[in-house]
Order: sequence, then C-alpha cells, then structure tokens
Amino acid sequence: MFARLIGTGSCLPGNPVTNDDLAARGIDTNDEWIATRTGIRSRYLASAGTTSSELGLVAAQRALEMAGIDAATIDLIIVATSTPDFIFPSTACLIQGRLGNKGATAFDVQAVCSGFAYAIGIADKFIRSGSHKRALVIGAEVFSRILDWQDRGTCVLFGDGAGAVVLEASEKPGILATAMHADGSQSGILNVPGQICGGQVTGDPFLRMDGQAVFKFAVRVLAEVAEEVCATANVSTGDIDWLIPHQANIRIIEATGKKLGVDRSKVIVTVDRHGNTSAASVPLALDEAVRDGRIQRGHKVLVEGVGGGFTWGAALLEF
Ligand code: UT7
Repeated sequence: MFARLIGTGSCLPGNPVTNDDLAARGIDTNDEWIATRTGIRSRYLASAGTTSSELGLVAAQRALEMAGIDAATIDLIIVATSTPDFIFPSTACLIQGRLGNKGATAFDVQAVCSGFAYAIGIADKFIRSGSHKRALVIGAEVFSRILDWQDRGTCVLFGDGAGAVVLEASEKPGILATAMHADGSQSGILNVPGQICGGQVTGDPFLRMDGQAVFKFAVRVLAEVAEEVCATANVSTGDIDWLIPHQANIRIIEATGKKLGVDRSKVIVTVDRHGNTSAASVPLALDEAVRDGRIQRGHKVLVEGVGGGFTWGAALLEF
C-alpha cells in the first residue's frame, strides 16, 4: 500500500514585492545584494489580518479540486506551520472547520522550514498503516509577521504563502521513502526566541539567524537526507526526475543539486519569485511544476526541507 499524490494546490497573497520595493520602503538594502547572495528577486507579503489558515484553506481547496474529491472524504489533515493563527486551536482544525470536514484527525506540525517534509512523512505513515485513507497535507506561513523589519540580514529573505497536496491510499506507487531528522543542539542558529507569559510577550519575538552557520548546515544535510531516501527506496540520485529542495537561497539549492549530481535543469526553483516561505516553499514549488506540466505521472520527485530546530527531512515519491 502506498500514499499516492492525487492533487496539488497553492496560494500566494497579494502582489509580488520586489527587492527595489523593499529598498523604497526604507530598508537599507538593494536588489544587487539580495539577488547575488540569495537569488531572490521578489516575494509575496500577506496584508495585515491575512492568516496562515486563510492561505492554507485556498491551497487545500485547489488541491481538492485537482484531485476531484470532496473535502468530506478526507480523514487526515496535517498543517505544517510555524506561524499559526493562534496558540490554539491548531491551524489544521481551523482549516478543517472551514472545509466543513468533521471528525477527521487534524493537527499541526512544527518543524519550521522542514515542516512539509515532516508532514508528508507523517501522513505517509498514517496511510501505510491502514488507519487513514485520504490525507490533506498543507504547508502554510505568514513569516512576514515574525520578521524584524529593522534587520536587513533576515527581513529580505522571507515571504508568505501556502501549498497543499492530497494523498490517497493506493496500490500504485506513490511515496517511496521518507526521512525526518533533528538536532536540537543547533537551536541557537535559527529561532524566534520569544514567549507569551502572563499576557505579555517576553524575550525576542522576531526571527534571528546566524546566516553562515545555517548555510553550511543546510547544504550538508540536504545532500545527506536526499541520499538517504534514495538508498531506502533503492533509487539512484541520477534517476530522480525532479529535485525540489527547500527554497531558501539559490546558492544552497545549486550546491545541493551539484553534490547530488542532479542536473540544474531537473531542479525546481521558485525562490527567485517567492523568497523563503518556510513550510510552504516545497508544496508551492511542487504545485507550480505539476500545473505547468514539468512533473508528469511516473516521474520520480524528491522533496526536501531544512530549517529551525534544527530539523531536516525528505520524501521521494513517484508521481
Ligand atoms: O530556511 C533556512 C533559512 N535560512 C537560510 O537558508 C539562510 C542561509 N544563509 C544565507 O543565505 C546567507 O548567509 C545570507 C544570505 C543570509 C547572508 O549572506 P552572507 O554572504 O552570509 O552575508 P553576511 O551575513 O556575512 O553579510 C555580509 C555583508 C554585511 O556587511 P559588512 O559587515 O560586510 O559590511 C551585512 O551587513 O552584507 C551586509 N548585509 C546586507 N547588505 C545589503 C546583510 N544583509 C544585507 C542586505 N542588504 N539585505
């Protein structure tokens, strides 16, 4: 029994905000620095009040539409997010409520930019166990809410959005292998070290990052975890049709492809137009490549993420 992907969807809020737009808003930066260091040219930023559940709901509805199934038939909803609408209820429950799907298992996964890789791995295990038949797996973020707009080293890197997939139990090949890892000793290099206590925010509620440490860690583990899932599935990295790494930085993406020996033409890139949308980045890129026809039935697609925690994970699937 496999978990087979039967629909994808995504949602980006508003209009693209270019690097020049950010400079015009008073951030001490420029298009040349951002584009050269990261490959990012623009990103989408949600308007005040737009939430992860709203973006996730639209992405989910589009994925359900592609799959041609009714929301009521979904028995598992997992939302990967680090920017939930509330402390609780979970974003998954909010989306479930709006879909009118009652009774299904619904919960959030907090693994930051690896969130989608974790969520798809978890959904795969639920489906393979036979306990669930149809899963909606969503990555949804409004990272702009946790950015310090005075910190040019981080605020130019991120964007908002959501992506979703529908997985179904099937005898035809689907997800071939998954992996999820963490190393909490590295929690200091990427975090939002704030808390709510007694009705007040204590600590620092903004994203903080040691960019160079994150860069090195990301390139190493993205290559390692891709090799791990390929080995588990007995597939050579050379047989991957499409590589979809977490979209944080074009230099990390290219270095990962190079380490794996995957040609640049087989790597899906959206970071230039979306920026880093954390848990949404991989399903956003996946949906784009499915809808524009690059990813075809039978193709082997490797999706992978890395992010705060530190966490990293991957899934190899046959589309
Ligand atoms: O999901 C995972 C999330 N994060 C990542 O994947 C990020 C991984 N890291 C990176 O992508 C890179 O480390 C960055 C793009 C964040 C930074 O690139 P870098 O080459 O490591 O630059 P840096 O932080 O060492 O900064 C170099 C210079 C500094 O100026 P000085 O001290 O050399 O005069 C910064 O102040 O660039 C300056 N700088 C900027 N200049 C213009 C930093 N941010 C900006 C900016 N615009 N936005």
